[in-house]
Amino acid sequence: MKNTESILKNIQNLKKSASDEISNDSQKSDLEDWRIKYLGRNGELSSLMKIMKDISPDEKRVIGPKLNQLKNDLNHLFESFQLNNSQTQKYADNFDITLPGRNISHGTLHPTTLIIREICDAFRSMGFQIHEGNEIETEKYNFDLLNIPDDHPARDQWDTIWLDLTNNENNYLLRTHTSPMQARIMEKNNPPIRVVVPGKCYRYEATDATHEWEFHQIEGLAIDKNISFSELKGTLYQMARKIFGSDQQVRFRCDFFPFVEPGVDMSILWEGRWIEILGAGMVHPKVLTGVGYDPNEYSGFAFGIGPERVSMLKNKIKDIRNFHANDLRFLSQFVN
Ligand code: DAH
Repeated sequence: MKNTESILKNIQNLKKSASDEISNDSQKSDLEDWRIKYLGRNGELSSLMKIMKDISPDEKRVIGPKLNQLKNDLNHLFESFQLNNSQTQKYADNFDITLPGRNISHGTLHPTTLIIREICDAFRSMGFQIHEGNEIETEKYNFDLLNIPDDHPARDQWDTIWLDLTNNENNYLLRTHTSPMQARIMEKNNPPIRVVVPGKCYRYEATDATHEWEFHQIEGLAIDKNISFSELKGTLYQMARKIFGSDQQVRFRCDFFPFVEPGVDMSILWEGRWIEILGAGMVHPKVLTGVGYDPNEYSGFAFGIGPERVSMLKNKIKDIRNFHANDLRFLSQFVN
């Protein structure tokens, strides 16, 4: 029994010294020396194995499996260090310290953000403030307060996405335009008011190269005493020249929007053609009275611009759907 114990101790010691030694070996040649020393024909393992022929069958039952285990352990140890060593070697052989590092790729602002900032900056330089509003609206602000009553055929112009939410008297929808912010801003502020409101709008619409169901608008509103149509024309003309260049020509034509009177659209002369870029007009007296303003005291103008359309002209973008396709080949062309 004493004998068995000391053999087991020897097995344990051998395992310990073999694994301590291999962990300290860093060179290929050390590893080979280790192999010869422990696993070689005349190595430590085989001399320990020789004990087997001198011991009793009872002892063999205990010692045999332990010796087998030791053999497996030493082989595994050798294989794993060998693998490790060859990988390190491969890496070291191929590593070129003169190669320049990889560039860290960083994002750019979205083209819609860029054009919205550019348009808002043009208005800011003329004294307008920037305001943002909610994308979920009530029927009252999106339609009623803008002089678009329930039975009015003008509602058909807006293909509305209604929400399945009703709370007492309100019907909710995704706003079809940014115009509802006109009433919200007038209710909360006293004139003079000069604001632009950029934001997202939604319509229940089939998409094609020039129509998206989700898009942006920039609403504008100026209210004060004695604002006339010339201020509307001057302001929008100035914006066009800031965005498209100082020799940009514009054209105003009559148009109809229920919340303005008179209503107009403005086109720019672009590559030999007149292209409409916004709707505008003098704020309708019904809109003013709806928020408690006296139309005999105050007047003003409003406008709505589609920034994606403006960007399409400026940047020669053929399909509005690019803005939401999330394709880096498109997006990375816009550097801020
Ligand atoms: N809200 C209109 C639309 O979505 C655009 C518009 C037209 C806004 C005339 C205005 C305006 O403020 O005066 O088509």
